[in-house]
Amino acid sequence: MSKNFDVIVIGGGPGGYIAAIRAAQLGFATACIDEWKNDKGGPAPGGTCTNVGCIPSKALLQSSEHYEHAAKHFAEHGIGLKSLSIDVAKMVARKDQVVKQNNDGILYLFKKNKVSFFHGRGSFVKAVDGGWEIAVGEDVLTAKQVVVATGSSARALPGLPFDEDKILSNDGALRIGAVPKKLGVIGAGVIGLEMGSVWRRLGAEVQVLEALPAFLGAADEQIAKEAQKAFAKQGLKVELGVKIGEIKTGAKGVSVAYADAKGAEKTLDVDKLIVSIGRVPNTTGLNAEAVGLKLDERGAIVVDDECRTNLPGVWAVGDVVRGPMLAHKAEEEGVAVAERIAGQHGHVDFGLIPWVLYTSPEIAWVGKTEQQLKAEGRAYKAGTFPFLANGRARALGDTTGMVKFLADATTDEILGVHIVGPMASELIAEACVAMAFKASSEDIARICHAHPSLAESVKEAALAVDKRTLNF
Ligand code: FAD
Ligand code: NAI
Repeated sequence: MSKNFDVIVIGGGPGGYIAAIRAAQLGFATACIDEWKNDKGGPAPGGTCTNVGCIPSKALLQSSEHYEHAAKHFAEHGIGLKSLSIDVAKMVARKDQVVKQNNDGILYLFKKNKVSFFHGRGSFVKAVDGGWEIAVGEDVLTAKQVVVATGSSARALPGLPFDEDKILSNDGALRIGAVPKKLGVIGAGVIGLEMGSVWRRLGAEVQVLEALPAFLGAADEQIAKEAQKAFAKQGLKVELGVKIGEIKTGAKGVSVAYADAKGAEKTLDVDKLIVSIGRVPNTTGLNAEAVGLKLDERGAIVVDDECRTNLPGVWAVGDVVRGPMLAHKAEEEGVAVAERIAGQHGHVDFGLIPWVLYTSPEIAWVGKTEQQLKAEGRAYKAGTFPFLANGRARALGDTTGMVKFLADATTDEILGVHIVGPMASELIAEACVAMAFKASSEDIARICHAHPSLAESVKEAALAVDKRTLNF
């Protein structure tokens, strides 16, 4: 059957489904095609984020944090437990339920916004009449505007495909059936630290092997050091500067040969191994070559600053293009593209995309790091405030970490905010708003923050820029 639309979106992850909803809101006849299948073979829109990424990882992080609190911190509050157990199957089933609620939520949003949903793989057929023909199963859809939002998949080590039993991608790491005694992780990036934290909290002995000599190189150095100390204290072992050698799987588990930072040959024997060494853009199946859609050497779709590809009327957003692989970045690009199609001035400020690691302590930042400002030769002032001096953090029993402000030495404009500590993921939003409005650290310092709240640490760090903290 042939169907005509104004806009076709290929991919129903956060980039795609949000682009489709915004396009429909703007009055376009919109279709969204997504191929993700749930356990029963039915549609499961939401992409990596909903099915095997942001949402399920946060569900397991929450469950494992509850367990760790019960095991290690309830006693401080005078709460005694006669016995404590973990039902991993139930924990994973709850996570699956959270995922399903999100899948269903997106299908509801499609109905509400009159987006036509097609379950299957979308691929380019040919250019037609100033637009594009896209095949999905038996259907052939046409539209003048096509948004490609096909996302990314886990990168495997050469010669070591994921079997999701012993060699796990993010997908298998979210479906381990019982707590492994020993868990290895290759790559101390975002997934390695988050998934390593989940299974460590539940009792696994976790060893992370990282190729780079620096821990969390993209974060502010002072913040990364503080986080590294906290992780070490919890027993999450991270070895930096390693070179991975041969990896063998056998009946008993996985054996990883590697050279440590000094070049000494070592072996790590584990029950399961998570490989989290980055992700690759998804373009197979799009039939990109047939229509001449340009890809770069990494396989990402080449786009300009406004997400236009080399083909007229074809846009691409999210993990399949350049830039950080983050759900909120994909969403922002999706909205901006829909608005550009409508002739509006959609805008994404790439300098103000926040990063969050949902470990404990959480790590969050927006804007420039101190090392970036130094490299740029920009004169800046820094102010920090430790959660140790915050009343709410003491009441919570979680005083690890700090808030750090970086502001221009002359104008006082906030250039970066970095947080390691409780609820950093929520606290960073204030910094994003302030920086979007080009606020100075003095602006934040003059705003009344509720007491007692963790957010007072943000205000105090802003005061620290002018060396006048009140509580430290
Ligand atoms: P995706 O979410 O990958 O969606 C693409 C969709 O397109 C998929 O459903 C795919 O099946 C479909 N598709 C592909 N090709 C076709 C085709 N030809 N036809 C039809 N459908 C197709 N980011 C955050 O911001 N915060 C987090 O906390 C976070 N946690 C994460 C945790 C993990 C374990 C992982 C792996 C990632 C996490 N991310 C997080 C990253 C986030 O998931 C991605 O940045 C985000 O999903 C990218 O959105 P997208 O729409 O570009 O692609
Ligand atoms: P990553 O890029 O965050 O980290 C990969 C790490 O693996 C790097 O530190 C890299 O140096 C290391 N590495 C690469 N090759 C290696 C090798 N051969 N041996 C040892 N170490 C090696 O990638 P990750 O963790 O796979 O996550 C992918 C992306 O998913 C993230 O970059 C992020 O964009 C997104 N994500 C976001 C989350 C969040 O926002 N909270 C959570 C999880 C993922």
